[in-house]
Amino acid sequence: MRQLLIAGNWKMNGTKPEVRRLISGILSRMDESRSAEVLVLPPFPYLPLVGSMLEGTPLQLGAQDLSVHESGAYTGEVSGAMLADWECGYVLVGHSERRSLHGETDATVAAKFKAAQAAGLMPILCVGETLEQRERGETDAVIRAQVRAILDTAGIGAMARAVIAYEPVWAIGTGLTANPDQAQAVHAAIREQLSAHDDTIAGRVRILYGGSVKPDNAADLFAREDIDGGLIGGASLQSDSFMAIYEAS
Ligand code: PGA
Repeated sequence: MRQLLIAGNWKMNGTKPEVRRLISGILSRMDESRSAEVLVLPPFPYLPLVGSMLEGTPLQLGAQDLSVHESGAYTGEVSGAMLADWECGYVLVGHSERRSLHGETDATVAAKFKAAQAAGLMPILCVGETLEQRERGETDAVIRAQVRAILDTAGIGAMARAVIAYEPVWAIGTGLTANPDQAQAVHAAIREQLSAHDDTIAGRVRILYGGSVKPDNAADLFAREDIDGGLIGGASLQSDSFMAIYEAS
């Protein structure tokens, strides 16, 4: 049985009072009888504040990005070791906004994936196709290539210490969601691709869905066989909607 993971990607949002309110709201609705793991991914400056608030609770902490480098003259960058220092357990790599707005290639994403694991962090590898690619019937090929870039660099064994998030680019922040059949098909294809290398690892890796997950569509998505939780953007900024999604798990 794969444990569901509900992850909140705050992107570049929040102020100190908002962060305090959001974390308090999340903590007040965490329910030990539910098995899903809950994770928040705040902007870097808020990691210490959030880390201090979630100490001793089951809420998990992660970051949205990391440097490919370990340390040194890389102005503005944050290393995996620094994130681990602030008790982060997870870090996103290859989010489509990093790929499209910051020119991250599959090679950069693979380097970040390895840097995360080298620092003891669990990378959440984001993959997804654009609308044009879907309309041209290229979804499978695009996702396959994004996953293959990691397999070629890090090897299948590394997938045992990683999470994958399928986020169709056309569904991120648009209010459009892949329907459960569309999402399930891609999740199953990813698992099949991994299973050609290692059946056990393929069966264990968690594959999250992301892209306009909301309280009213979460339960149908999470009910599908290969969907192991969600990577939530907009709806993770309010504890009511984020925890309603958690409660749909
Ligand atoms: P969204 O973002 O839920 O606002 O679509 C998801 C993401 O980008 O991770």
